[in-house]
Parts: sequence; structure tokens; C-alpha cells
Amino acid sequence: MISSRSDGPFRLSKSGSATYPLRSLPFLLAAAVFSLPALADEAAPAGGGQQVYEKNCAKCHSSAMGGFFTGAPKFGTEVWRARLDAAGSADALVKSTAAGKGKMPPQAGAATGLSEADVKAAVEYILKYSVH
Ligand code: HEC
Repeated sequence: MISSRSDGPFRLSKSGSATYPLRSLPFLLAAAVFSLPALADEAAPAGGGQQVYEKNCAKCHSSAMGGFFTGAPKFGTEVWRARLDAAGSADALVKSTAAGKGKMPPQAGAATGLSEADVKAAVEYILKYSVH
């Protein structure tokens, strides 16, 4: 049996043009415009802390499965407050991260290709979302 009923998203208006997709256009535009300031705010110097973190640090510091067993302090958790207090300053954390600590290999240098500024941006990114 062949049904002539059209109940897909592209319903035709009386004029014969498809109107449904256009209805979501203002919303999409608004969403695009409002997300711009957030992106600008997150962009850190030296390549962007978020980018460095996701590429180099998340494999150990994210709470996703891959990073679960490394013993690394996890992104977004309260443990970073104690880390910060123990180190004394964010700069001290940058130094221990760049040089390596415990099971964390040195993060600045030839092995990672990261500069100390990259490491700093990534540490600041972690702290921004973990220590409130
Ligand atoms: C191979 C896994 C691994 C990678 C990759 C890694 N870390 Fe770590 N990180 C650890 C572990 C494990 C510790 C805990 C070290 C300890 O205290 O013994 C740690 C600790 C830290 C600390 C706390 C240091 C301190 O003095 O208490 C900071 C900050 C940190 N990592 C930042 C980063 C940043 C930023 C990156 C990416 C540039 C990164 N880590 C990449 C495993 C990793």
C-alpha cells in the first residue's frame, strides 16, 4: 500500500515551500553568537591551556577510563586545592609539572614538545576548573 501522507520534518506550507528548517534558524544564530564570548574567555596564551591539556594531560588527569588508574589527581576534583596548598603557589605546581613528579614524567621539553609556558597554561586551565 502506498501512503501519500507526508509527516517528515520537511512539511510543505500552503505556498509549497518547505518552512520547517527555517524556523530553527534564529535559534541557531543566537546559539552561535552567545557561544563566542565563552570561547574567547577560554583561550589562553601559548597555544591555549585547554588545547595543551586535552592533547597532553587528559590521558592521565581526566576521569575518563584511560586516566582512571594512573593515580594522577583528576581534573575538576577537590584534590587540587590540597595540591595547590602543599606546593604553595600555582607557579610551584607549574615547576613540578614541567620537571616531572612521582609517576608524572617531565611535561616540558623534548619528550612532550611543550614549553614551560604551555605547561603553565595547562596547569592554569586545570586549576581554573578545579579550585574554586
Ligand atoms: C603519564 C601520566 C601523566 C601525564 C601525561 C601528566 N600528568 Fe600530571 N600528574 C600525574 C601523576 C601520577 C601525578 C601525581 C604525582 C605525585 O604527586 O606523585 C601528577 C601531578 C600533577 C600535578 C601536581 C604536581 C604537584 O606538585 O603536586 C600537576 C599540576 C599536574 N600533574 C599537571 C599536569 C599537566 C598540566 C600535564 C600536561 C601538560 C600533566 N600533568 C600530564 C600524571 C600525569
